Amino acid sequence: MNLLVTGGAGFIGSNFVHHWRGAHPGDRVVVLDALTYAGNRSSLPRDDDHFLFVHGDIRDAELVSKLLRENPISVLAHFAAESHVDRSIHSPETFLDTNVTGTLRLLEAARGYVASGGAPADFRFHHVSTDEVYGSLGPEDPAFEEATPYAPNSPYAASKAASDHLVRAWHHTYGLPVTVTNCSNNYGPFHFPEKLIPLMLVNILHARSLPVYGDGMNVRDWLYVTDHCRGIELAIRKGTPGEVYNIGGNNERPNIEIIRTLCSLIVEEFASDPELAARFPDCPAAKGSDPLTLVTHVTDRPGHDRRYAINAEKAKRELGYEPQESLASGLKKTVRWYLENEPWWKAVMDGSYQDWISSNYGEAR
Ligand code: NAD
Ligand code: TYD
Repeated sequence: MNLLVTGGAGFIGSNFVHHWRGAHPGDRVVVLDALTYAGNRSSLPRDDDHFLFVHGDIRDAELVSKLLRENPISVLAHFAAESHVDRSIHSPETFLDTNVTGTLRLLEAARGYVASGGAPADFRFHHVSTDEVYGSLGPEDPAFEEATPYAPNSPYAASKAASDHLVRAWHHTYGLPVTVTNCSNNYGPFHFPEKLIPLMLVNILHARSLPVYGDGMNVRDWLYVTDHCRGIELAIRKGTPGEVYNIGGNNERPNIEIIRTLCSLIVEEFASDPELAARFPDCPAAKGSDPLTLVTHVTDRPGHDRRYAINAEKAKRELGYEPQESLASGLKKTVRWYLENEPWWKAVMDGSYQDWISSNYGEAR
């Protein structure tokens, strides 16, 4: 089988490529990625008989049509997006361009491909979306289900909601065989250090302040990225066209608790490996002090959603999906990955990264 993975050089897309190649070594994976600040060619394998990287934009309908036709693609797995809420607050238009127009162009290319008769009979367009389209929960509200009404609150969430609606309409109107997954916050290897967990890890190691928005009690439902990739694979292989599946990790935690756990894990790693103190001499753990002292409460994110939680019962019932990683095991693996892959995260923290950090955090950093 041939897959086209958009956004495959990003965090989840690259993990999905590694996951799929491990599970289906005979398949061929083509990645289409524009290599924005969030995309890294180094997160992916080298080109070979089973892997091809194409540097290009999902809005380039001609290129997408050519890739579908020439390969020929059975599964288009759509990950490409602008994905960071804080950036969407600073520059919303980029989010609309990529997430809405980009998805529209892909849907149109896929529709033309199917209509031409060139697509395999079991062609599937899989759209990767987010729980943020459902809005914010109160402390006692039940977790998001697939039928929860959409109430996006950030420009990012609004753009993803719009893209979800397009995917739904292309199924309903044109019969395009689509599936959609809406997932909670992912974490794990290859996560760009602008999001909570990798940002905190990198900052702990360099003794930089840990910027906590508001009171630190906003709750997210953490999903280890490999569990997410397994959920997407199940939706592609077993999901019914036209259906939506929520994928979650059953790990609701307030942000401050995640930060506390990361600090403890770093202290444990430094205690068991004396070389770490030499590699990261500024880290409080190298000097026997608690990195938690680096926490700084900063001005809250405008419109900051209070709580997300996913009810993944439908995916369990219909696809046999269940997360395999606990938060403790997933965070430990993640901390180890960042300690073992310093060249990867050093390379992505370039000049434009530094510009973003000072424009978002200003004096607090
Ligand atoms: P990411 O920001 O790490 O990666 C996005 C990738 O898309 C990058 O490689 C980037 O270069 C590429 N890209 C951006 N614009 C493009 C364009 N116009 N053409 C081609 N490629 C382009 O994002 P991620 O965290 O890996 O998220 C992947 C998908 O999962 C997104 O659709 C996101 O909305 C969704 N999602 C993410 C999370 C999460 O916790 N990270 C949670 C729920 C849903
Ligand atoms: P983030 O990783 O940006 O994901 P999302 O906004 O999609 O949930 O943020 C996760 C949580 O961490 C969210 O409640 C905002 C909070 N946060 C901070 O407190 N400080 C930070 O510097 C960042 C990036 C996020």
